[in-house]
Amino acid sequence: MVTIEPSILSADPLAIGEQAEEVERCGIDMIQVDVMDGHFVPNITFGPRLVRALRKRTKLKLDVHLMMLEPDRLIKTFADAGSDRLIIHQEASPDLYRLLQTIEELKVEAGVAINPGTPIEAVEEVLQLVDVIQVMTVNPGYGGQEFIQGQLSKIKRIRNMLNEKSLRKPVAVDGGIDPTTAAEAVQAGAEILVAGSSIFNRNGTVADNIKALRDAIKSVEGN
Ligand code: DX5
Repeated sequence: MVTIEPSILSADPLAIGEQAEEVERCGIDMIQVDVMDGHFVPNITFGPRLVRALRKRTKLKLDVHLMMLEPDRLIKTFADAGSDRLIIHQEASPDLYRLLQTIEELKVEAGVAINPGTPIEAVEEVLQLVDVIQVMTVNPGYGGQEFIQGQLSKIKRIRNMLNEKSLRKPVAVDGGIDPTTAAEAVQAGAEILVAGSSIFNRNGTVADNIKALRDAIKSVEGN
């Protein structure tokens, strides 16, 4: 079963609460909150205060994607704010193994993300520790970028690596997901599709845009 996970980075910054409720009405159960520190990526976005506010406002699960250096400094703060999952980047954490153990001890789901230039072998030793592996299909930092086609083979290879280890864990993709690339990513083995600008835009309602993604993956789901 493939799940669509809206990234609120592309939502109207002055109406994030309403837009979160809108996706909740579309039967979505998890949204991604992109935290950027202006160092790991050249952009600054949200902090724990927004996670706490969303926690109070919606029943949606909150998948907090930490695009920050030294995430260990704020892991507990984001967990206490109400995160259901914390995704950290392999490139940002020299102490990745311990950090993932810490997230587990905080009783929050753990995920690891890899940038387009990072080989899958860089996370091979922590696959048993995580609940999801997120393949960045754009260079992190902004919504609305083009999907990097070359990452499709990476999705396939990490899916194979998990299967060889009999690890039943989903592969998520993040960046440039629209109805066309969604189908390609699912065919490559992705099971979680993080999507921002293809859901939150002026071309259609959130409900229409989510339906367009769902229809696009229907034909390839389970292949
Ligand atoms: C980028 C973020 C993505 C981004 C996706 O660094 O991690 O979640 O919001 O936006 P789109 O779907 O527009 O590429």
